[in-house]
Amino acid sequence: MTLTERDLKVIWHPYTQMQTAMPPVAITHGEGVLLYDDAGKTYIDAVSSWWVNIHGHAHPYIAEKVAEQLHKLEHVIFAGFTHEPAVHLAERLLAIIPDNQAKVFYSDNGSTAVEVALKMCLQYWFNKDKPRTKVLAFKNAYHGDTFGAMAVSGRSAFTNPFSSMLFEVEFIDLPSDDNIQELCQKISALHSELACFIFEPLVQGSAGMLMYEAGHLNTLMAHCRAEEVFTIADEVFTGFGRTGMPFACDHVQQQPDIMCFSKGLTGGTMALGITTCTQDIYDAFLSDDRLKTLFHGHSFTANPVACAAALASMDLFSEPSTTENIRRIKKSHQRFAKLIAQHRQIKQVRQTGTIIAIEIATEKDTSYFNTLRDTLYQYFLKAGIILRPLGNILYILPPYCITNEQLQYIYQSIEQALNTL
Ligand SMILES: Cc1ncc(COP(=O)(O)O)c(C=O)c1O
Repeated sequence: MTLTERDLKVIWHPYTQMQTAMPPVAITHGEGVLLYDDAGKTYIDAVSSWWVNIHGHAHPYIAEKVAEQLHKLEHVIFAGFTHEPAVHLAERLLAIIPDNQAKVFYSDNGSTAVEVALKMCLQYWFNKDKPRTKVLAFKNAYHGDTFGAMAVSGRSAFTNPFSSMLFEVEFIDLPSDDNIQELCQKISALHSELACFIFEPLVQGSAGMLMYEAGHLNTLMAHCRAEEVFTIADEVFTGFGRTGMPFACDHVQQQPDIMCFSKGLTGGTMALGITTCTQDIYDAFLSDDRLKTLFHGHSFTANPVACAAALASMDLFSEPSTTENIRRIKKSHQRFAKLIAQHRQIKQVRQTGTIIAIEIATEKDTSYFNTLRDTLYQYFLKAGIILRPLGNILYILPPYCITNEQLQYIYQSIEQALNTL
């Protein structure tokens, strides 16, 4: 039996309609931007394996650091104990994010980082005896698949079966010149009930790489600050260089109260989530009253091996060649954006940093379920490229080590695919 056949007997895959999906491709190994299947075919990982990979697959330096850590300490309970990788990673992360961030709370992935952020805000107000129970979020947001994260995500086909179980959230449109004043007024009207405002800074990834202006985000964050509404920057997707700066929040002057990280945090090597917060938020949990404790933790909180992977990834991230690669990809995308925007099949091209999204004109359903998605997905797989369109929106989000030639090959394949439509 092939690996794929064995898989189909025992495995239920994420975000996959198991009845109709094509059998999964069996990957045996990876190197740099390439993944190799069991028949020897190569694929350019143009989506960084669900947006996590930033330095390429099976990176030898990360592998070495992870192996070293495995020989020292694989895991230890993180309540009552600590270890060098967790402390060092917290120190290093705090040194490169907005300087109002004072404490690091570890968890397992992007969704749990969001859960922790929401709990910090809601319990802050609870501990202060001034309960605030509403959350403000953007329409079409995506913050993860656990219940709290789903609740603050836009209501969609993904959340429908659970809609009655999701807590109340005020959803607002993405900001624009036309509505920014109205949005600020809404925040003012609701402020005494709002525990926090959670957002994906600059780019709403899952919504189809929807982009909005840093200036408008800055205005909203400043307004929240004035109205004492906490801001949570969910940098799970945008963090570690995706928007051209180390963090999307580097594009704004305001500092968020809380930040969430995962995905690129470990270079895409291990599952790890981080929620950081201000001293003020941390202090609201300090008390002789033990009921004011943040009662949250996971078995694998601050796993030393995951922290070692993150430290190794940060070493690579801070190398000048990574900054240069990010700049190179950004420029390359900008050139391609200009070119492809002329194509008859294109509705809109959006680009921020290393992210480019190409919205294809279609008369059909423009949701995630647009059938173009499947056609294009298969087309690119055949061409040896992993691109997973979000409905009628194609996007490229490569690891930073992608070469110019590989980028050109992806661009050409996209052009050819559009010509077939
Ligand atoms: C902005 C954002 N937040 C949270 C998440 C959830 O992360 P995870 O899939 O690691 O739970 C995602 C995942 O795509 C995301 O894009």
